[in-house]
Amino acid sequence: RSSLAPNLTTCHRSLSDADRPVYCCPPKPASEESVIDFQFPSPSSPLRIRRPAHLLDEEYIAKYEMAVAKMKQLSYDHPHSFMRQANIHCIYCTGAYNQENSTSLLKIHRSWLFFPFHRMMIYFHERILGKLMGDDTFALPYWNWDAPPGMVIPAMYSNGSLREEQRDRAHLRPQAADIDFDYVESGLGREEQISKNLAFMYHQMVSGAKKTELFMGCKYRAGEDGFCDGPGTIELAPHNALHTWVGSDLNPERENMGAFYSAARDPIFYAHHANIDRMWTVWKKLRGHEPEYVDPEWLNSYFYFHDENAQLVRVRIRDVLDFSKLRYAYEEADLPWLNARP
Ligand code: C2O
Repeated sequence: RSSLAPNLTTCHRSLSDADRPVYCCPPKPASEESVIDFQFPSPSSPLRIRRPAHLLDEEYIAKYEMAVAKMKQLSYDHPHSFMRQANIHCIYCTGAYNQENSTSLLKIHRSWLFFPFHRMMIYFHERILGKLMGDDTFALPYWNWDAPPGMVIPAMYSNGSLREEQRDRAHLRPQAADIDFDYVESGLGREEQISKNLAFMYHQMVSGAKKTELFMGCKYRAGEDGFCDGPGTIELAPHNALHTWVGSDLNPERENMGAFYSAARDPIFYAHHANIDRMWTVWKKLRGHEPEYVDPEWLNSYFYFHDENAQLVRVRIRDVLDFSKLRYAYEEADLPWLNARP
C-alpha cells in the first residue's frame, strides 16, 4: 500500500471548517518547480534553542518582530511571504491537494499526520525567519501554555507585526487561558483556571495518552475511505481549544486562529505549534524514546515545503522523528503538570 502524499498538480479551491469556499494555492503551481529531497542540516551548524515566549528579552522580540514585518512585505509570488507561509497551512488543512494516485483529498489534522506535518511547517518557517534576519541561530519562541506563567497570551504578540486584531477581546492579557476551551467561558478565577489547566495537562499527556494512538492520532491510510478521523489528546486540546480561544468571537469561524484556513495568519500560531511540538518531545521522552509507529506507510508519507533558499523540498515523516538531527531544541523547563495528577 502507498503512503500519503499530495499530488502537486491538483491544488484547487477547498472548503473552510464551515464549508465556505476558500482558495489558498500558490500563484504558480508548485508542480512546475524543481523538487529536491530533504537533507539534514549539517551536524556542525548552530543549534537553535527555542525558549518560552514570556522569557524572551526586548532584543530578541525586536529582531523577531522585524523579520515578520519583512515577511509581511514580500509579495505573494515569494514563497517566503507571510501569506504564502500561512497558506501552506490552509492548503494542507482544508484539503486543497488531492492525494497522489487518488482523487481523495489530503488533510493533515485529526490523525497521525498532525504532529509530523506541523513540525516540518514550523521548522522551515523558523529557518526562513533566520535567513531574513541574517541569524542562523534564530529559534522560534514557544507559547508555554502548560505552565502557569505561560497561561496567558504572551506580551510580545501585542505589538507591531506580531499583533493581530482578529483575536477574542475577552481573552487578551491578562485573561488566564482556558486550555480546554470549548466555546463557553469557564467563568473561573485565575488560580482555579490554572489548577484546572494543570490537571487537564496531566490527563492529556499522561493518564489519557498511554497508548500511541491516543496521543499521536489514528492511522490514516492512503486512498478512498482511508481517513480515520481520530485526533490525539493534545490535538483536541490544548491544540484545538486554544485555536478557538484565541480567535475572534466576532468572526463567523473565529478567524484568524479559530479556523484552519486562516490560523497561520496570526503570528502566535507558530509559538502555539512550537509548544505542541515540544509536548510531542516530552511525551516521547516520558515513554523512553520508543518509536511512535514503525509502519512504513507513516514513515514514508511526505509533504512539500519551501526551504530558506526558496527551494521546494520533499520531506518524509521519517526525516523529522529525531528532532536533534534538525538542529533545534527546547530549553529545559519545568513541567508543573507532571505532579498535577487529579
Ligand atoms: Cu494545523 Cu494548529 O493547526
